[in-house]
Amino acid sequence: MENNQNLKINRRDLFVYGAGIAVVPHTEAALEKAGPVSPKIEHSYGVSLRVNGKARRLELDPRTTLLDALREHLHLTGTKKGCDHGQCGACTVIVDGRRLNSCLTLAVMHEGSTVTTVEGLGTPDAMHPMQTSFVKHDGFQCGYCTPGQICSAVAVLDELKQGIPSHVTGDLTAKPMFSAEELRERMSGNICRCGAYANIVAAVSEVAGVAV
Ligand code: FES
Ligand code: FES
Repeated sequence: MENNQNLKINRRDLFVYGAGIAVVPHTEAALEKAGPVSPKIEHSYGVSLRVNGKARRLELDPRTTLLDALREHLHLTGTKKGCDHGQCGACTVIVDGRRLNSCLTLAVMHEGSTVTTVEGLGTPDAMHPMQTSFVKHDGFQCGYCTPGQICSAVAVLDELKQGIPSHVTGDLTAKPMFSAEELRERMSGNICRCGAYANIVAAVSEVAGVAV
């Protein structure tokens, strides 16, 4: 039994040891011996996804975001983490045909889903037409936002084909048409810090087959 007079515990230790791990008296020596503490996973959950055409099974801490599952567990690092708060769109992927911010959703919520990341759209030798167009029109500078921009743009054209209206669609009873206004509105969740917007519009417009 430790001598309580030797017990020195600071706020950080209390926080670290209190976060899901039994709170027991520790001297500083005992804490040092224990080394850095990783959050303890009490339960892991199995989740099956179809990612870029391949069946994948993961055992995950249920708090794992889809973004971290893709990047850290499946090593698909094409999808980027910008803000991790749903504000930049760098993490956009296509899930069951709809684009979403993968930082804002937990992987375990997508049991059985089909996920497409930028790696699944095309390869360097066989690029998706949207990837080719981004290269042709210089739709990027640093490239950090680009995987999200490309996934989003592919899904935007699909949304238009399906007749899904946006905030700027005037006539909700008519099929929305591709336009610069529709594109800017629909891509407004994808921020480009380099400001490559004009070239992104040119790239997506070419794939849409509409001059804007
Ligand atoms: S990283 Fe997901 S929106 Fe920014
Ligand atoms: S190309 Fe750099 S953030 Fe978009």
